Amino acid sequence: MKILVTGARGFVGARIMDVLDGAQAAPSLRDMTRDDIRRWIDAERPDAIVHTAAVSDIGECAADPEGSYRANVDIPVWIAETGVKAVLFSSDQVYSGCIKPGPYVESDACPENLYSREKLEMEERVLSVNPDAVLLRATWMYDMPRYGTPNRPNFLTMMLGRDALAFSDRAYRGLTYVREVAANIEAALRLPGGAYNYGSENDLTTFETARRFAEALDLKVRLSGDIWEHDFSMNCDRLRAGGVAFSSTLEGLLRCAEDYNLSNWRK
Ligand SMILES: NC(=O)c1ccc[n+]([C@@H]2O[C@H](COP(=O)([O-])OP(=O)(O)OC[C@H]3O[C@@H](n4cnc5c(N)ncnc54)[C@H](OP(=O)(O)O)[C@@H]3O)[C@@H](O)[C@H]2O)c1
Repeated sequence: MKILVTGARGFVGARIMDVLDGAQAAPSLRDMTRDDIRRWIDAERPDAIVHTAAVSDIGECAADPEGSYRANVDIPVWIAETGVKAVLFSSDQVYSGCIKPGPYVESDACPENLYSREKLEMEERVLSVNPDAVLLRATWMYDMPRYGTPNRPNFLTMMLGRDALAFSDRAYRGLTYVREVAANIEAALRLPGGAYNYGSENDLTTFETARRFAEALDLKVRLSGDIWEHDFSMNCDRLRAGGVAFSSTLEGLLRCAEDYNLSNWRK
């Protein structure tokens, strides 16, 4: 199998490159036109494409609506138009405008900010041109920094690096170990076309997740639980029915801590 991975030097793409058999790094798509993408894929003749490249920061999208639309909607649609089997990353942010509490199923999507509206439009347009495409609604992901890969603040690095943090003691959201996300991509490539909630579920509030994780690792971070957060927790039954499963959020965090031997952190 030859699988082209876009965004191969990004946070998620680099971890996929680490573990996916047959993965080959795609060139940057930033300056590619629709014709460039068609020519490139015609020349490469891949068995599949895993598309992670995107403007993934909500603030960056808001600051450059035209540029982010090109990256987050046009480019994935141009990839889908080639007809190659494609797995493309979307986001749990598509639930940002939901009024009822989670966990959300795929049909509950109701995006509020520009980034999430782009992601939902991308999903709909991709599926209309390539019904076999697989759209993965990912949660906020975490890992320790990876050599040679840009780092970004994430739940784990915040928990390890900050003296004090505030989370909601009412809102629920899944947080996913990005190495599980990468390990499951091979199975995701076999899913029937459609949109899937893709990541760890969480039946604990974000504050309680942080509290239990801090307790398990004896972290010194001071936690408070009084800030407002939107619910983002997802129900992943559809994904499980397709044979792809994740650890719960707390299990994933503890597994990551074990992988990196973090029990001695700051001791
Ligand atoms: N990180 C998270 O916690 C999270 C949560 C939910 C969903 N997601 C989604 O998961 C996917 C991967 O996220 P990530 O965190 O790995 O992203 P990332 O590291 O911020 O970016 C991935 C790659 O996107 C490409 N890129 C950046 N700006 C671009 C532009 N203007 N046009 C075209 N390509 C551009 C870059 O690749 P090149 O240098 O090769 O151009 C970059 O390495 C994205 O679709 C994101 O929306 C991420």
